[in-house]
Amino acid sequence: MHCHAKGPDRYGSLTITLHWLVAVLILGLIMLGFVMTRGSIDPALQFSLFQWHKSFGMLALLVSLIRFVHSLFAAQPKPVAGISPLEHRAARGMHHLLFLLALAVPLAGWMIASVSTLEIPTFAFDLFVIPHLPVAKSDAAEAWWTTAHAVLAYLVLALVALHASVALYHHYVRRDSVLLRMLGFRGHR
Ligand code: HEM
Ligand code: HEM
Repeated sequence: MHCHAKGPDRYGSLTITLHWLVAVLILGLIMLGFVMTRGSIDPALQFSLFQWHKSFGMLALLVSLIRFVHSLFAAQPKPVAGISPLEHRAARGMHHLLFLLALAVPLAGWMIASVSTLEIPTFAFDLFVIPHLPVAKSDAAEAWWTTAHAVLAYLVLALVALHASVALYHHYVRRDSVLLRMLGFRGHR
């Protein structure tokens, strides 16, 4: 599985496009989620920010699902020269966790909307109604999923901060091609 010689020396363009699209969506949704849940904002504005958050959140779920399925089939590039087996395993572990959370966070959000007794429909950008998951509605369940969604979302933020810091460390300190490869360059530096 972890053979160091096999595989291409670059990421495919679809892998790269999906990586940065998901990154922008997730970081944007965390900022929007934080802002819209502050108590001090105007209720009408808050309602529309919630609708935007749900639309972009469902888009993030769809793109993350495509990204996850694609990653199962895409060839894994071989590790950059100078990466130890332990570093390679740690990177893979982090990537698997991020794949998982990129699905779990929007699913937990979908659960909030689904179990809420307010029964506010979830529109995809005002185009069509996204059905709610077939689960029992209750205030207790809504409170539980709201907490789960927030905890998982801020966990993603912390892990992404670490993930991005390691990428910058490779670029500026180790001076290898780990970051350049995710920007579409070949694996030599
Ligand atoms: C990757 C996608 C998503 C991310 C990163 C994300 C992130 C966040 C964050 C950071 C908050 C604020 C938590 C807090 O400070 O209390 C939040 C709140 C919320 N999100 Fe998401 N979210 C995503 C997807 C979704 C989806 C798909 C839905 C529903 C369809 C959704 C529904 C909600 C709702 C209803 C709240 C407000 C909960 C409350 O009443 O406090 N989110 N989200
Ligand atoms: C601004 C922030 C980000 C930077 C600078 C960044 C950078 C990178 C780099 C350089 C790689 C390649 C690592 C390698 O070749 O071993 C990578 C891979 C990866 N990143 Fe990020 N990333 C960011 C945000 C995110 C976010 C938000 C996610 C959330 C899901 C994420 C998930 C992943 C995954 C799953 C991989 C593995 C790709 C694969 O093997 O197909 N990244 N990232």
